[in-house]
Amino acid sequence: MSDDMHILVYDKTCPSRTGAQQTIQADSLSINPILYSEDSSFGAEVYGVDWSKPIPADIVTQLIALQNKYAVLIFRKTGLDNNQHIAFSKQLGDKLEINPFFYGRENDRLDMSHSELDGSLVKIDSRRYYHSLGNALWHTDSSYHQQRSKYSILLSHGNAVEGGSWTHFADTRRAYSDLSQAKKDEIENLVVEHDLWHSRKLAAPAVFGNPLPHELAAKPPAYHRLVQTAPDGRKTLYLAAHAKQILGKDIDESQRLIWELIEHCTQSKYAFSMEWLSGGDMVWWDNRQSMHRANPYTATMTARDVRRSTILDDGPWALGVSRTGLD
Ligand SMILES: [Fe+2]
Repeated sequence: MSDDMHILVYDKTCPSRTGAQQTIQADSLSINPILYSEDSSFGAEVYGVDWSKPIPADIVTQLIALQNKYAVLIFRKTGLDNNQHIAFSKQLGDKLEINPFFYGRENDRLDMSHSELDGSLVKIDSRRYYHSLGNALWHTDSSYHQQRSKYSILLSHGNAVEGGSWTHFADTRRAYSDLSQAKKDEIENLVVEHDLWHSRKLAAPAVFGNPLPHELAAKPPAYHRLVQTAPDGRKTLYLAAHAKQILGKDIDESQRLIWELIEHCTQSKYAFSMEWLSGGDMVWWDNRQSMHRANPYTATMTARDVRRSTILDDGPWALGVSRTGLD
């Protein structure tokens, strides 16, 4: 996958580099959509939330409606700390995902992909470093869990970043709607095996070509439908670098189709790049109707302290497909 690991920034960025920007006022909130057309919108920067206090229920309802429409919401300089980050996350769903890897109890609801708990950069050549490389491949979080997640909320605790630090997002709903009818018919009922160790292997074959027995035992694969209905009611593709095999197809044929679809979804007309500017910047996305990727991890990057909370899905597709039911 080395070709896929270079740094790239899409034409559409947040903040906008061209200056062209639409602003929509909705009560106390201001919304700057990132990709928009008459019938489809994806990504928005939102202003007007008072993050210094618990978020009132009517604002949470309004934000969820925006989330359903845009799939990725970006908030600048929120000033949130760990506890406020977790408290807001709990307003969006009953259960937060517990990360089984690398963390003690105190930190198990916040995932820090680039930093150790003391704030230093994860050591190059450590197993954890190789584990993090897969985040630079297009994916959706937690598709390898049988109970998947709906939202991820990533909050920066760092100082202003120099030199550009980016996260990239792609709209899997719009991408699905543009597929040919023949392709839609071909993929309608497919079920995909998602395996964390598959994406780790793609990004770091020398280390994760053969995951350790305790790693395999900690994370067996999960099964989800490829074509799903998104929270906004449109059809979407549920895809990720974790997608290993399509049931009923061999591995080579599966990988060809999976990466054909990932490449389709991540064309520049469906994607944008979000720039991390300041501590407190926060992005909240819906894993059920988008994909994302981190910038590739390099030896020269500065420690980027971004922490993620992940909210379990409680919707109709949350538990995927039972493997035994398919045999
Ligand atoms: Fe991710």
